[in-house]
Amino acid sequence: MQLVTGTLLHCLAKSPVELEYSPHTTLLIDDHGRIQAKGKLADLQKQYPKAQGFDYTDRLLIPGFLDTHIHFPQMDMIGAMEPSLLPWLEKHTFPTEVAYRGRSDLMLKAAHQFVDELLSNGTTLACVYSSSNHDVTDLLFEVFAQRGLRGIIGKTSMDRHAPQALLVPMADDLAQQSALLQRWHGFDQRLSLALTPRFAPSCTPELMRALGELHAQHPDTYIQTHYAENTGELLWIKELFPKAHDYLDVYEAFGLITGRTLLAHGIHVEADARQRLAQHQAIISHCPTSNLFLGSGLFAWKTMEEAGVPIALGTDVGAGTSFSLWQTMNEAYKVAALRGAAVQPIDLLAAATLKAAQALGLSDLGSLSVGYQADFQVLNVRTRPLLERRIKMANSAEEILAALIHLADDRCVESVWVNGKRLRST
Ligand code: GUN
Ligand code: ZN
Repeated sequence: MQLVTGTLLHCLAKSPVELEYSPHTTLLIDDHGRIQAKGKLADLQKQYPKAQGFDYTDRLLIPGFLDTHIHFPQMDMIGAMEPSLLPWLEKHTFPTEVAYRGRSDLMLKAAHQFVDELLSNGTTLACVYSSSNHDVTDLLFEVFAQRGLRGIIGKTSMDRHAPQALLVPMADDLAQQSALLQRWHGFDQRLSLALTPRFAPSCTPELMRALGELHAQHPDTYIQTHYAENTGELLWIKELFPKAHDYLDVYEAFGLITGRTLLAHGIHVEADARQRLAQHQAIISHCPTSNLFLGSGLFAWKTMEEAGVPIALGTDVGAGTSFSLWQTMNEAYKVAALRGAAVQPIDLLAAATLKAAQALGLSDLGSLSVGYQADFQVLNVRTRPLLERRIKMANSAEEILAALIHLADDRCVESVWVNGKRLRST
């Protein structure tokens, strides 16, 4: 048993979601890493005199972030500037990913640094694309398992339109997916496999069909892919799949669109496709720092939300330029503002925490209410005097949250807890 005291700032699972700001509050964390009770420290100490105490008075306790879209190899190429997606993939991304193979010391170091970056930014669950190589993906799972971070991880499937060194023929890919599924899916209740067809141009129809079938056999796996990010990509899809009704139809036809599908981007989407996304309850992972960096377009948050499509946030490192979900939230705010329909601070926090968890079917993540997993970040705003000053001027919890969204970053993250265990502290 542990008693953790601080100021809670988190979303409550009500409809609509509510923001709770609760100073001087103690969480009682049970031996399974769940929040068992919440209250005043003195009362809980009396009831649980043997519980270990952690005093984060004057610090904020905020649920750990869910980064629903990030590429492991691409941390090596953040800021590789190209005018748009397709030349960026060809000139920078694919050559970088070729190096992510095998089980070397170099790859082990890279996997640890990747986890370090996620944790130091307050991320407690990441949906990750590895490279197309089995061994390095296996190693990445292993490092997540060792370090205690939550992961929905996939070996990126690709069997066409990329350098030979990245292509894995269908039969080999399926055998490797099965091996990863057996070894890691459900491991310690913290890791899951995501079947990861990179995007339709990288996969033959046969490979996509086979991955759809594999998902049907194991419906609790996730599926992640890219969708409707860039206009050049859309033209290519028309050329490759002339009979498809639209881009979404390509994936639907192979059984790849379900309530466990995460689609990165979803910028250029017609009303008809929005409706079908909502029917499937497929999730859009909105990645604003990436969309701005590659000039991909401005995601229509409100239009997508009004259609009933679940929206989560992703950093999309390395097209994305930051591991920080704070930075991602503030860019999402600006993108929505440019679309003429600004989102509220609570919408942003919910998309980075509670709503992302709910959309992924993880109903005990993303909030600091009783019964939830003790996954949280401890923020010390004194590390950023401007933020501290701005928060002192705030008149409401919403205003505090807005200040954090626009000014907080990894310098504020003092420690990170997952499943009741402190994984990182400064
Ligand atoms: N579409 C296909 N692959 C990728 C990728 O690695 N990053 C982004 N942003 N879009 C993609
Ligand atoms: Zn991506």
